[in-house]
Amino acid sequence: MTRAPLAPYPALRMRRLRQADWIRRLTRETTLAPADLIWAMVVHDGEEARIPITAMPGTERLSLREATKAAVQARALGIPAIAVFPHIDGARKDARGSEAGNPNGLIASVVKAMKNAAPEVGIMCDVALDPFTEHGHDGVVEGNRILNDATIERLVEQGLMQAHAGADILAPSDMMDGRVGILRTALEAAGREDVMIMSYAAKYASAFYGPYREAIGSGKLGTGSVANPPDKKTYQMDPANSDEALREVALDIAEGADMVMVKPGLPYLDIVRRVVEAFSMPTFAFQVSGEYAMLMAAAQNGWIEEDRAILESLGAFKRAGCAGVITYFAPRVAAMLGA
Ligand code: PBG
Repeated sequence: MTRAPLAPYPALRMRRLRQADWIRRLTRETTLAPADLIWAMVVHDGEEARIPITAMPGTERLSLREATKAAVQARALGIPAIAVFPHIDGARKDARGSEAGNPNGLIASVVKAMKNAAPEVGIMCDVALDPFTEHGHDGVVEGNRILNDATIERLVEQGLMQAHAGADILAPSDMMDGRVGILRTALEAAGREDVMIMSYAAKYASAFYGPYREAIGSGKLGTGSVANPPDKKTYQMDPANSDEALREVALDIAEGADMVMVKPGLPYLDIVRRVVEAFSMPTFAFQVSGEYAMLMAAAQNGWIEEDRAILESLGAFKRAGCAGVITYFAPRVAAMLGA
């Protein structure tokens, strides 16, 4: 980028362009709109319509019926897409996450019902085993290892089920090596060539996923049949690394990802910026459960202005170069912004 030399003060007074709302609006570099939002939504397989998620004030797990209504609401609010995350009955969880690929399971029903009620809204599904395993890991565990290739076989089964149910975007969030390419090949072979892949390309082993464990009921890692569990650090990225994120993103693009994601969001905007500059790909960030919880906790204590802080946090993603943001705030923010 070329820059004109700065005229010295008083010829240049930066505050001239800040003096009134109209000129601030006119010279604004980025904007946030409902079209930038992917609604992160937790669904459950119980009877109750809505179950509050304690660690994420203002969010609830929705029943199939409520989720279907929410899809209609998303359309009315101008939210382009919904990302669904399942909370299933603990009795249906096992060591292998067998429920993950169930064509009659919660995710299949929710996707079908949503696409039926609001076909104009894109539906995105997480491809990972953690909501379905009793130990809470994203993959198949053997001893104290997560098996990469055995996990991919299960992910393909899960992803194809989601695609057949009508999911528009598959979002592998497992961080196994090679899964994007294998999933892409499987989708082509199954005649699902239009199904998009948004890979959780640079996904960090983060403390900010804490409240999500309550949200999907995955409890403490390593409970259940796995006695000596490995750490998610053996597959998710080290928060200290930045160049490695570019290698991860490059691989996923080469394997056929249509869009890439950085996760968590706000603490990793430097990564977002590098990815956007390096690849010019549609790049998304996930404002995760812990980020949501932090904002809400501070707001509930009266320590920050709630609406302003939420809007500022989401605007930051646009400024960093994101095409959009996956956020639990989506319906609330879309309503604030107006469709
Ligand atoms: C599962 C998955 C996680 C999140 C989305 N998909 C948790 C994890 O990887 O441990 C986190 C979402 C959030 O915290 O809001 N693979």
